[in-house]
Amino acid sequence: MKRILLSLPHMGGREQIYVSEAFASNWMSTVGPNITAFEREFENRIGLPSVALSSGTAAIHLGLRLLGVGPGDEVFCPTLTFAASCNPVRYLGAEPVFLDSDYVTWNLDPNILEDALRERAQRGKLPRALVVVDLYGQCADLDSILAICRSYEVPALEDAAEALGATYRKRPAGTFGELGVFSFNGNKIITTTGGGMLASRNAAWVEKARFWSQQARDPGIAYEHSELGYNYRMSNVLAGIGRGQLEVLDLRVQQRRAIAFRYREAFAGLPGISLMPQAPYGLHTNWLSCFLIDEDEFGCSRDELIRSLDAANIESRPVWKPMHLQLLYAGCQCYGGEVAEDLFRRGICLPSSSSLSLEDQLYVINQVRFGAGAGPLMALEAEPVAIG
Ligand SMILES: Cc1ncc(COP(=O)(O)O)c(C=O)c1O
Repeated sequence: MKRILLSLPHMGGREQIYVSEAFASNWMSTVGPNITAFEREFENRIGLPSVALSSGTAAIHLGLRLLGVGPGDEVFCPTLTFAASCNPVRYLGAEPVFLDSDYVTWNLDPNILEDALRERAQRGKLPRALVVVDLYGQCADLDSILAICRSYEVPALEDAAEALGATYRKRPAGTFGELGVFSFNGNKIITTTGGGMLASRNAAWVEKARFWSQQARDPGIAYEHSELGYNYRMSNVLAGIGRGQLEVLDLRVQQRRAIAFRYREAFAGLPGISLMPQAPYGLHTNWLSCFLIDEDEFGCSRDELIRSLDAANIESRPVWKPMHLQLLYAGCQCYGGEVAEDLFRRGICLPSSSSLSLEDQLYVINQVRFGAGAGPLMALEAEPVAIG
């Protein structure tokens, strides 16, 4: 029996044309026309200079280095995120300090940020930077967060790895901080199998990141190095996949949102299950369809639901385990943390692939309904009633 997975790659069709061009012309390295074109097309989409890299994690690493993060520094980061948001802080010899989320967005709580910065300012040690994350396809409350950062002169890197295609007050996710990061990992809304992008209004920073990503080889004919570099550039073959994927990004956003709202409609009569909130200030891509389970009302716990879905060959996952609960980050300070812990305890991510058929969505829905002790639905509307 086939297994329904959480979030799968979904090709649009034209990727192969660009990849074939790379093969036909032997541009099979980290230079070539697809990379140049992918960066240009991505820049046209988000409106900022961008550099294509081997992963979103690499982009965060380079972005934090551009912000001057180094040994002895602290970097603020929401605790409710994937480890890649803060691991690069450690790569640079600095330490993360974690901050709680709010229930309205599941993202960094601006009030906690303000309290934490005020306290740090009083102690005379401000963080070198903030990593602000746009979780599961929804932007954090960026106006509030960045206004607070500006008042303390703390720069922000926006980790929009999960939020390509989302908007905040009609502007694209990833364009708000001093630097923005995107991921094309295989589970993301569009993919290059693995890859990332770093963007900034500061074109010189983007150029510097491009230089570092190619081993920081100084100009000239010899192999001379005056700065430490990395092998972080995207390949021309994968950039070809990215070009095809970018052409279907809006369709993928629509498809992922439709799944989330179809689930929401199908669970409307069930007590104790609610879709991740959709903040009024922007477009949430619902990269993953995340729900909160209230065990007493729903009839079983989040973990029991995951196990029963697993037995029915459906992959589902808990919401990210907060960073302050990770062994790796034991000892790091966390401001608050109770909201993130609660979201982690009750949150579930359901299958969200844009290629998920109506039939498979109905199967997932009925297995969730079964977990709640409710009867099956017989059919689904092709279009959910509300996707706004
Ligand atoms: C919030 C967040 N940040 C960063 C990353 C890292 O991206 P990548 O897997 O491309 O390195 C991911 C996903 O993997 C992510 O979910």
